[in-house]
Amino acid sequence: MRILGYALLCGTRSEWFCSRLSKELGVELIPLESKKFPDGESYVRIAGDVEGKDVVLAHSLSFPQNDSIWELLITMEALVDSGVNIVALYLPYLAYSRQDRAFLPGEPISVKALLQILSFMGAKALVTIDIHKEYSMKYFRGIAYNLIPVDPMAEKISERVSDPLIVAPDVGAFQRASAIAEKIGTDFIQLSKKRDLKTGEVAISSEGFDVSGRNVVIVDDIISTGGTVAKAASMLRDAGAKEVYVAVSHALMAGDAQKKLKEAGVASVFAANTLPPLSGVEYYDVTGIAAEKIREILG
Ligand code: R5P
Repeated sequence: MRILGYALLCGTRSEWFCSRLSKELGVELIPLESKKFPDGESYVRIAGDVEGKDVVLAHSLSFPQNDSIWELLITMEALVDSGVNIVALYLPYLAYSRQDRAFLPGEPISVKALLQILSFMGAKALVTIDIHKEYSMKYFRGIAYNLIPVDPMAEKISERVSDPLIVAPDVGAFQRASAIAEKIGTDFIQLSKKRDLKTGEVAISSEGFDVSGRNVVIVDDIISTGGTVAKAASMLRDAGAKEVYVAVSHALMAGDAQKKLKEAGVASVFAANTLPPLSGVEYYDVTGIAAEKIREILG
């Protein structure tokens, strides 16, 4: 029997943004137990009743991504076996979304594999934040929303940076950056970036733009190794920028990314609360816009 209303389940490593989501939604929170066995295998148990309910499963796909994905899958398996009515996923950071095509012959479309598996496991709806390429959402066979956090990111930049010049580090970042600049009511430029597909090495140029004396904000979807943003920041500083800030949706900060950014002269990094928090990053909240969409889906 279907019970009206819905409940929230916070998956592994999602406590930080999920407790905020629980306040935003104001719904029953179903406890989840999780642990690792001594041999490294993951264990989860839904410690509440989900039979007949619509459940929002909020899950982090943060590092270690493969463990996180597996824990998401076994949590979904447990939900479906326990007689849940609908599983709607809130996955604010969608791991593997940058492998959205075969860049070299023989490569997989990893994001396609992930979204198809989630559909197969019984997810009926998916809400994510700023997936690398919008077109990847088509691989999910259900209701799928990709939310670009234009308002909260613009608000954070306005609060922290005076008279900002918004910078898109490459062509892929153009739309996001132009929307942010428009929201703030300021100007923006787009740099040109080339990445070596084998070594990952990036080359960035700002030819033709005057950034001298400006507070610039590099706006992108993600900082992973920090290579893109560090290159852009050093180049902008060399070109005479006053302060260089970075605003992204996802601060993954792999390896020594934070050190690279510091060495490149980045004053502050602003990121959405889509991944577990790191010191040295200033976060802005996106659970409000996610909650609004979840309410719209589940009523
Ligand atoms: C690339 O197209 C993305 O938008 C990011 O600029 C890139 O993936 C960031 O990666 P990294 O921090 O490793 O340069």
